[in-house]
Amino acid sequence: MKNIVILISGGGSNMAAIVRAAERDRWADRFGARIAAVVSNKAEAGGLALAKSHGIDTAVVPHKDFATREAFDEALAKVVDGYSPALVVLAGFMRILTPGFVGRYAGRLVNIHPSLLPAFPGLNTHQRAIEAGCKVAGVTVHQVTTELDHGPILAQAVVPVLPDDTAATLAGRVLAQEHLLYPRAIAGWLSDTSSHNR
Ligand code: GRF
Repeated sequence: MKNIVILISGGGSNMAAIVRAAERDRWADRFGARIAAVVSNKAEAGGLALAKSHGIDTAVVPHKDFATREAFDEALAKVVDGYSPALVVLAGFMRILTPGFVGRYAGRLVNIHPSLLPAFPGLNTHQRAIEAGCKVAGVTVHQVTTELDHGPILAQAVVPVLPDDTAATLAGRVLAQEHLLYPRAIAGWLSDTSSHNR
């Protein structure tokens, strides 16, 4: 069985969409894959309860307990490695990872970013898209490399920016697409890797 480990920091709505897609689309039967664990750097992350309610292991590695990024990433990797993951999924995981962590999971570490990369890496993407006068915005699923919000693009979805949009209304429109795109991109990755192994 291919284990997927999802890292979150907050509400975990993308994680929830992935968990639901894995159940609905029978990833275990189709790809021999399962969501093995959801790990958060914050104990109060709302997504942890949902993961538990689906029978998924959860763990918290509080970044505040560690003096350096390297020490936190070491501790995080120890938990993640306990599941021998085929894929590590960043879903609203709000920590910058060290090159050591990224290198350890090279080729099996993916992220979702709420902009049409390479436009608007970093934070406040929706406000920045509105201020730039963009007519479209969107979301990108990409492989994680050491450069923040870069790395090979796996999938994108586009939404319009409407004249009255605020960062909040645009974020809502983009998030609805995130919930469709991320599970689809992961299923695509699982399908590709299953056929390579045949
Ligand atoms: C999403 O917009 C994601 O693209 C960004 O952070 C947000 C997380 O939302 N990286 P959630 O925790 O999945 O609800």
